[in-house]
Amino acid sequence: MKQENKKNSSYNKIRNNLYANVERHELTERKTFSIVALSALVLASILLFVAAMIESGSKKEYIYVFGDTEQELSEKLAFSDGVQYIDMSALASFCGMDSMDGGFAINGTFISFTDGKSTAKVNGLDVSLSKKAIINEKHVLIPIEDAKKLIFGIDIDVSVEKTVITATENIYMIAKNVEFDYVTDVSAYLGYINSDSDSILILANKKNGIAEDFAPSPLVEIPEKYRRTDRVLKLDLIAEKALEAMMQDMFALGIDDVCVQSAYRTYAEQQNLFNNYVNSEINKGLSREEAIANANKYSARPEHSEHRTGLCVDFFVPSCMLELENYGHEGSYPNDVGFTETDAFPWLLENCWKYGFILRYPEDKVDITGYSYESWHYRFVGLEVASIIHQTGLCYEEYIELFN
Ligand code: DAL
Ligand code: ZN
Repeated sequence: MKQENKKNSSYNKIRNNLYANVERHELTERKTFSIVALSALVLASILLFVAAMIESGSKKEYIYVFGDTEQELSEKLAFSDGVQYIDMSALASFCGMDSMDGGFAINGTFISFTDGKSTAKVNGLDVSLSKKAIINEKHVLIPIEDAKKLIFGIDIDVSVEKTVITATENIYMIAKNVEFDYVTDVSAYLGYINSDSDSILILANKKNGIAEDFAPSPLVEIPEKYRRTDRVLKLDLIAEKALEAMMQDMFALGIDDVCVQSAYRTYAEQQNLFNNYVNSEINKGLSREEAIANANKYSARPEHSEHRTGLCVDFFVPSCMLELENYGHEGSYPNDVGFTETDAFPWLLENCWKYGFILRYPEDKVDITGYSYESWHYRFVGLEVASIIHQTGLCYEEYIELFN
């Protein structure tokens, strides 16, 4: 019996050991399985996370703030060829531009782009862009740096988070450093035409007087072939050289009956001129007061005349003066009818800016310039300023107010 019990007990031990081994084995197996499962889960999670990151990375939106409105552009639209773009369509509607003729217009200025082309048309002039424009159904995308250069009156504050656009009321599209051809070789005059001397920007008008002892910069005579032969006329050196280039080109085009009839005037000369106009108004039957008021509309008192700066000219076409006698111009300043009908006038209107000149007293700016329309009076301001005035249609007073 004892023997039997002993046997049983060893049997039980073996069995228990066996069970314990099996249990241990099962436990190890379960553990291994759990570790593998957990690892797989962790790996899957990591993969999912990385995939999500890549996904979210490719879907990164760039935010453009236009006042109260935000525009989101995907990285694909916001960036091309390493530079950041802006949507001209969104910018245009924010600034109140008109979308027309495949471009955008505001305050008399106009800009248009072509898909895939790194050029733009600005106020009829060709301009190079730093990168190509990208146009699709929804967007007109252009490099931000080009938008900044070509659009005056907006501010684009670029940052990674948000690009914030602010705008003024005075927005103009302006082409700068435009390239164009002159008619003849004017290379000897380009330094003068491109002058950026402050002295050429003097503003003389009814509100900005010139002291009686004002001394203009060095004056030189206008060559005889470009002036009325019965007068010796002088101009500021820089303006005179630019005038020579302009007249050289006009003459080359066959517009050679035009000449300068008035340029620099001394204080005394301007005083005499003004007094003569007052007297001619009195001779028409006006009181002295009325005569002065009338003369003031088209002639400047000596302290207000731009002619004293030596930076402007009055053109003259002898044949138009002869025709004018038939108009019976009733004592008004003689060129006001005839000069607009010469070949010189439309050419000057279109081209004088290329030589740094502007039409100083435009027909639609009388209230601002303070003088009646003078189709014959051109002022030298240098190419850069003249180009802006030509493109914007502003008069000189408006230019000074906005751009200085
Ligand atoms: N005719 C212009 C205004 C002048 O007299 O200066
Ligand atoms: Zn004049």
